[in-house]
Amino acid sequence: MSTLVIENVCKTYGEVKSVRGVNLSVEPGERVALLGHNGAGKTTLMRMILGLTPVSSGKITVLGSTPGSRHARTSIGFLPENVAFHGALTARELLRHFARLKGSNNKAVDDLLERVGLSHAMNRKIRTYSKGMRQRVGLAQALLGTPKLALLDEPTSGLDPISRHEFYDLVDDLAKGGTAVLLSSHALTELESRTDRVAIMSAGRLVADAPLPELRTIAHLPIRLHVKTAAQDADTIAASLGGTRMNGQSINLTCQQDEKMALLAKIMALGATVEDVEMRPASLEELYRYYSTEHVQ
Ligand SMILES: Nc1ncnc2c1ncn2[C@@H]1O[C@H](COP(=O)(O)OP(=O)(O)OP(=O)(O)O)[C@@H](O)[C@H]1O
Ligand SMILES: [Mg+2]
Repeated sequence: MSTLVIENVCKTYGEVKSVRGVNLSVEPGERVALLGHNGAGKTTLMRMILGLTPVSSGKITVLGSTPGSRHARTSIGFLPENVAFHGALTARELLRHFARLKGSNNKAVDDLLERVGLSHAMNRKIRTYSKGMRQRVGLAQALLGTPKLALLDEPTSGLDPISRHEFYDLVDDLAKGGTAVLLSSHALTELESRTDRVAIMSAGRLVADAPLPELRTIAHLPIRLHVKTAAQDADTIAASLGGTRMNGQSINLTCQQDEKMALLAKIMALGATVEDVEMRPASLEELYRYYSTEHVQ
């Protein structure tokens, strides 16, 4: 059974059509990135999955249950986009409180605090925490009781680069244990190797939903090649390969996937005059731009 099933869901606030006919499902152990511009409808979708706001039409099921039902609620770990906690409590006190509500125990709290790197500060009041530290408390709270579905709304905002990396390690472990993960983010570069599937929303609609390699194939965006050569040869080589000389020694080229091997063979045939070749497929950022703008009428 899919952990999360969203079927033709719409949400209208007065005149505003926040979510328009979204279909999306997430399987156990799958990590799905939910991308989209500000106001695309990501948070609204999460709020409907949580049962915090009703759908206007369509249907959502969480492990076969209705959003907001006891079964659905106890199966979900949620990190809201703006975490706010009672500043007078310590992280340990706060998490022990949530642990009781989720049927988890004090040992699990200490383990989680260790995993999110807060052991050293767990007995300090949360109001003395930095932004990133508060975000870590939020993460620990969301992961308590090993949820079947983790909904993480911009989980890495406020985290430094190392912490972001560690955060994705945590998500990987969670997914390996069978948790379905749906996380929204604007930080695309770090997501590239860390998700199984990418879902892109634009103006309330789901405009893409596929693994990254498939998105690349569908979008048919060119691969970029960067050839480094001896300065005196650059112009001749640029002309023969059909590329652009960028500075003294570099040539930029683009090709489609099915032209790549032939182009590489042509470059290799030039021999020692070619010092280096770098190849770059379309990045998630380029794909995101394609799907959220050019692709949509
Ligand atoms: N309670 C509400 N009342 C009226 N309109 C709302 C409400 N909540 C959300 N909206 C509107 O729904 C649209 C989607 O908002 P949402 O918060 O889901 O976007 P988002 O994709 O999470 O954006 P961001 O990346 O900025 O967090 C926006 O136009 C927003 O103004
Ligand atoms: Mg949002």
